Amino acid sequence: MAKLSVNDLNLQGQRVFTRVDYNVPMEESGGAMVINDDTRIRATLPTLEALRAQGARIVLAAHLGRPKGKRVASMSLRPVADKLAELTGHPVAFADDCVGDAAAAAINNLQDGELLLLENIRYHAGEEANDSAFAEQLAAHADVFVNDAFGAAHRAHASTVGIAEVITARGGQCAAGLLMERELQFLGAELEVPDQPFVVILGGAKVSDKIKVIDRLLEKANTILIGGAMAYTFKLALGKSVGNSLVEPDKVDIAQAALDKAAERGVEFLLPSDNLISQMTNGVWADPEVNDAEDIPDSREGVDIGPATAARYAEAITGAKTILWNGPMGIFEDARFAKGTLAVAKAVAAATVAGAISIIGGGDSVKALNQNGLAEQVTFMSTGGGASLKFLEGKELPGVAVLTDK
Ligand code: 3PG
Ligand code: MG
Repeated sequence: MAKLSVNDLNLQGQRVFTRVDYNVPMEESGGAMVINDDTRIRATLPTLEALRAQGARIVLAAHLGRPKGKRVASMSLRPVADKLAELTGHPVAFADDCVGDAAAAAINNLQDGELLLLENIRYHAGEEANDSAFAEQLAAHADVFVNDAFGAAHRAHASTVGIAEVITARGGQCAAGLLMERELQFLGAELEVPDQPFVVILGGAKVSDKIKVIDRLLEKANTILIGGAMAYTFKLALGKSVGNSLVEPDKVDIAQAALDKAAERGVEFLLPSDNLISQMTNGVWADPEVNDAEDIPDSREGVDIGPATAARYAEAITGAKTILWNGPMGIFEDARFAKGTLAVAKAVAAATVAGAISIIGGGDSVKALNQNGLAEQVTFMSTGGGASLKFLEGKELPGVAVLTDK
């Protein structure tokens, strides 16, 4: 059922508790924490502008890292408030605590259209426990709840679910932000009845992380391309040798079941026919070379798809009308092992220019596109990691389910 949108509301003078996902990568530099990638912050700007234009009093809440209910200085959101002020061009107030007197005073000071960011909600154990008393505290100074944190919508926490229940019980409204709506549209509605050919590219380390996504997409895709270490579990299922490659021997059965389902349904299911292999020696990857054989020699490890596979995958992507990509083809953090992922990234970008809809399922694939300046050429990049996968499995996300129906 469609959920209420921020655009459906009249928020003039309302205190809007807005959950965002500002769980951004940070790094210590010269004694301060510096944001490495502000994509998730930028992604909320349309929602913040919509709230500002309506004259809402915007109270932003987010988590950073996993401080497990304690104040951990390196996980403070203060640097995010500064970044947000820079990106919005408006002052952003900061409250040192997300509940209690500090929060109450800061919220009371807000004028219509002004922004406030609350300190890391995970400094309180009640957040991850979805504690009802903590949710009441969060809701204490809020009239309306907006959830724009797609990346945290798979978590049933106090700031994603508990607060919405409190506000709903009071007769208040709980709406999706504009980023949340876009995520649900592209990862959900657009893939319900995709234009064909629908090509799915899945990579990453583990079959176990993606098997439910594979199982569901086997009912929709024309072609599924597999890369990354999870390809080796499929290879094992086919009786090939995988050397020292990262595999899940106990997942061979589910890999085989996916291969059988693909065959039954006539889905083209491609595995690498060649690989780049290497071996970790004294903490460094040594002697990378292309392995043309179906078997990987003992003591060597697959680290990327090989050039023939990259060409075959690029060809399969060309001509697609709908593309979903989640997960790198190899250990792309090492430039020597990034060629397969780059070939896929370029093919996805080119197919999009030629008219396909391309949807990138978050995490490492987004990083790869950003690194190669291709981010602008794809249709949509999810800001979710775990949330994207859960949603692609066809699950309803708790942070979405709890929002007010239209
Ligand atoms: C993420 O980065 O995936 C989200 O912000 C959720 O964070 P979490 O995995 O710590 O709940
Ligand atoms: Mg995570």
